Amino acid sequence: MNRKRILVDFRQLNAAVHRASTVLFPDADAFLNRQSLLYDGFSYGLYGTPTIRQLEDQVAEIEGGVRSIALPSGLAAMTHPLLALCRSGDHVLMVDCAYGPTRAFAKDALSRLGVEVEFFASDSVSIKDKLRANTRVVIVESPGYYTMELQDIEAIAAEAHTVGALVMIDNSWGFGSTDMFALGVDICCTALSKYASGAGDLCMGSVTVADEELFRTLKAFIANLGAGVSSDEAYLVLRGLGTMQVRVREQAERALEVGRWLDAHPAVSRVLCPPLESDGYHERYRRFFRCGNGLLSVLLREPAIEPLKGLIDGFSHFRIGASWGSSHSLVSITEPAKSRDVDSWEDGVFLLRIHLGLEPLELLKGDLEAGFDRLKT
Ligand SMILES: Cc1ncc(COP(=O)(O)O)c(C=O)c1O
Repeated sequence: MNRKRILVDFRQLNAAVHRASTVLFPDADAFLNRQSLLYDGFSYGLYGTPTIRQLEDQVAEIEGGVRSIALPSGLAAMTHPLLALCRSGDHVLMVDCAYGPTRAFAKDALSRLGVEVEFFASDSVSIKDKLRANTRVVIVESPGYYTMELQDIEAIAAEAHTVGALVMIDNSWGFGSTDMFALGVDICCTALSKYASGAGDLCMGSVTVADEELFRTLKAFIANLGAGVSSDEAYLVLRGLGTMQVRVREQAERALEVGRWLDAHPAVSRVLCPPLESDGYHERYRRFFRCGNGLLSVLLREPAIEPLKGLIDGFSHFRIGASWGSSHSLVSITEPAKSRDVDSWEDGVFLLRIHLGLEPLELLKGDLEAGFDRLKT
């Protein structure tokens, strides 16, 4: 038996994990020219390995862009392009319903760098009156983080481009079920920590663009910052991507079923979930997305925090925790009014955030029903 031949012929189903800080070069010339390899080749583990490039290519394809950069978290996927693109004196417009830590970064770090950050309404169909000659980036997030408002992304992008601003979206919710570049978005940032990884056990993010020059600007800046991901985690996300579409579709169906049931429940005042026909943003959702997911925000008739704490503390199948996108059902409580600058939020202080996992649906509904019964006592 030729043992060497057997090794060469080995094939596996999934990606190979290439672990490296050091990358080897065949000779001195190749080593001295290694900087030319930043965008496409391999020069140092931090700047990419074959496993990471495979993930980036797959993410770019899913987003409908041409180039993607993997970053250590969904939050990093938002903050790094902003740092790369904005300079002192620039103006940034951010939608009011953006993910809390992205807002905090903009208000703190960007402001400290001399960038003026201004918020616009979460349900905007136009930002014309807010655009300026120095507006550098317009940040949208549709649906909004907890409160699920949808902006008219297409109209906003067209307006932003009239002053040369770039449009950046937190596309974590819509990853794989929308084509934001066709709507005029320039930069798609996604938390791969959610449905892409699918297991709730890692953090990763991606920045995707449809323009090679913009990719090179971002990649060079991110390389200078020293941000990168490990091949082991890139492998886990690649493995998750193989089943993502089926998982998301199933979890979206479950969210619709539970959302309709909650909508009709006497303990519930409103369900915020644009894929639901009763949601005020349903028509916009149908314009921009092909599919929903397992997330629901729920306003209860009970306004006080103590009964709400008792409600979620008593759950047997929903576990208390942040994030979403795994096969586990999660619940949390949030206060939307605390992260608002221009929108008022008067619909109830606390919002219940539910992520529907893949546990038997009757157990999850039973858990919720028992929780609502506890509210009555
Ligand atoms: C909409 C949205 N964007 C970004 C993030 C951040 O992702 P990560 O946890 O990977 O930093 C989250 C996390 O919950 C999110 O919900």
